[in-house]
Amino acid sequence: MVELKVNGRPYRVEVTENELLVDVLRYRLGFMGVKQGCGEGDCGLCLVLMNGRPVHSCLIPAWRADGSDIVTVEGIGSETSLHPVQRAFIDQGAVQCGFCIPAAVLIGKWLLDRGLAGDRETVRWAYRGLLCRCGSYLRFEEAVAQASRGG
Ligand code: FES
Ligand code: FES
Repeated sequence: MVELKVNGRPYRVEVTENELLVDVLRYRLGFMGVKQGCGEGDCGLCLVLMNGRPVHSCLIPAWRADGSDIVTVEGIGSETSLHPVQRAFIDQGAVQCGFCIPAAVLIGKWLLDRGLAGDRETVRWAYRGLLCRCGSYLRFEEAVAQASRGG
């Protein structure tokens, strides 16, 4: 039995030994904003914040997440009150097909929370681990810079 807090809400889930965090979040708890890509830690699409740090949920056995605090894109902003990073992504036209955007927004939030969003080199480094097939990287950088300026 694994106890997790996801987006501020507690959950108890019975998991198997080999079950991965990405599958628990998507298929047991319904957080479909957590995307599945390579399943090998390369693409970054399955990224969530675990205890405040970005992690690849496809590499984490669910049992290892016991007791942790997880944030997915569903926990950021709302339809009527967007997070500053979400607002900036829209303003900068960063959203193309949208498949990588949950992870991209979480990376932006992490940078903002850590006070790193104003450092262009760090922002570029942070997005290097995310595969955006639409090539929106420059727009991600512009969006994070906008958020760091306060909108
Ligand atoms: S699906 Fe997890 S890194 Fe690609
Ligand atoms: S916006 Fe399409 S993969 Fe990034």
